[in-house]
Amino acid sequence: MSKNSDIKIYEYDAVIVGSGLAGLAAAKELTEAGKKTAIITKLHPLRSHSGAAQGGINAALGEGDSTELHEFDTVKGSDYLADQDCVELLCSKAPETVRWAERMGATFSRDEKGNIAIRPFGGQSKPRACYAKDRTGLAVLQAIYEQAHRAGIEVFDEWYASDLIYKDGKVSGVAAYDIRTSEPAIFNAKVTMFATGGHGRAYRFNSNAHANTGDSLSIVARHGLPLEDMEFVQFHPSGLGGSGVLISEAARGEGGRLFNSLGERFMSKYAPNAMELASRDVVSRAIMEEVRQGRGVGKDGQSVNIDLTHLDPEIILTRLPELRELAIAFQGQDMLKEAIHISATAHYSMGGIPTNINCEVQKSPTELVEGFYAAGECSCVSVHGANRLGANSVLEALLFGRHAGQNMAKKIDEGITLRKAAPSDADAMLEEMNTIKTSNGCESVPKLRELLQNGMTKNAGVFRTKESLEEQIALIDDLLERFNHIRIDDKSNTFNTDLQEAIELSHMLEFSKFIVDGALNREESRGGHFREDFPTRDDENYLKHTYAYMDKDFNMSHEWGEVTLGKFEPKERTY
Ligand code: FUM
Repeated sequence: MSKNSDIKIYEYDAVIVGSGLAGLAAAKELTEAGKKTAIITKLHPLRSHSGAAQGGINAALGEGDSTELHEFDTVKGSDYLADQDCVELLCSKAPETVRWAERMGATFSRDEKGNIAIRPFGGQSKPRACYAKDRTGLAVLQAIYEQAHRAGIEVFDEWYASDLIYKDGKVSGVAAYDIRTSEPAIFNAKVTMFATGGHGRAYRFNSNAHANTGDSLSIVARHGLPLEDMEFVQFHPSGLGGSGVLISEAARGEGGRLFNSLGERFMSKYAPNAMELASRDVVSRAIMEEVRQGRGVGKDGQSVNIDLTHLDPEIILTRLPELRELAIAFQGQDMLKEAIHISATAHYSMGGIPTNINCEVQKSPTELVEGFYAAGECSCVSVHGANRLGANSVLEALLFGRHAGQNMAKKIDEGITLRKAAPSDADAMLEEMNTIKTSNGCESVPKLRELLQNGMTKNAGVFRTKESLEEQIALIDDLLERFNHIRIDDKSNTFNTDLQEAIELSHMLEFSKFIVDGALNREESRGGHFREDFPTRDDENYLKHTYAYMDKDFNMSHEWGEVTLGKFEPKERTY
């Protein structure tokens, strides 16, 4: 590792952390606008989690559909917590965004007329999820990666961005290290963007890639900046029982039915009209309630059945081939022949780094950080409010990623200056790496991570109470203390995954406290946040965004931000 004064300082117009759809789309826009842009990513871009999005990308392209209906469904699905100006932007630009992705080379499936194929998804008045079999994210990611590459983006892959350079209200890049060699560097930039994706690995059962450790959330919070609405975690109704691996909502969109151990099609009790296509929060709670009542299936009784055997096998073979393969590989169950076991799995973060409609990061509900942008799952703009509709996330990442890239290019053209970074801007990162490597305690990182994940699933999952959340806060505080006494075995500088996993765990512990504390503070139920002790939505007191802050001793504080309402008045949701 370099001595601090030798540290390499790269200079760019724009630096983007994360290479999923949001990061790549932004980088493409910036590079095409002639801005010198670097992407820093801990994975190769084609391994980013955007590629795991299976079922679709929403756009009102179907017969009888409209932008306004898409807006209405998104706002209703959000349990009225979404900011309606941002939702309007999302839905009005959705058709153009899908067509743009197609022009970039995304190979969408076609209907019998040769148009982009669309399928029904939960919580939607009309079929609207445009798809490429059950590999939509991958099809779009490959196309955008190729085009961004062609535009000349510079990618630092297998680099770990571990600190933000933030002083006097302005961000001027990040400190990062090369995972191959542990060599540190500073990426100094006029504008910086975080597009690092989700945080699902904080939960025992989740549908997320191993890399989804939510690092950027606590990197931001460590600088005293807020996180917004972190209590809203989406539990997807269909993760493979036992592993949580995603079985796309497309399985229900194509006609899959849910049954309990008594053979009852139980959604008729919970959402008699929408049935399996109610929104995700509703279906996940229904599944977990059936399990709690002892009507689960599988060895441990923790799953329910999804049955597709009544469908024409051709539908499964041509539209859901990957889902079939996953269920065979992980559970030995072939959906052509039998029902498969699924259960609710932590899937998506509705909350994140707060931004305004231009993707500029906020330092409070009313103030902005200069030169700092965020988009995609790590951000909270907020178009999903308390519950996201399926197939709105690929859309959000692509659309707001481009939007951020265009706004950053504009900001550079307006003359934002480069504040020169100094070697000392890497001090905090180097100290963190050194402390972890030299720490000689008795605690193991995998053990602490397992305790966190089990606790989050049990205490801050689909159902929450004051007691369960307080238990989880106490557990996190204990784990934060025990983290000071970890020991990693690998002391080398080469591909030191022990070091990386320890840093990632420190982030998971910190942002998890935001999730749990926000959930404790919000004494109502809304969207993905369900308090058994406060089972109804309370617009009078809680139709507002949480802005939460953490101090150096991990103490939390909050303030509320206004929800931008619009043409859709809050109403009770029925399905
Ligand atoms: O079920 C799915 O295919 C997931 C899509 C999404 O989260 O948007």
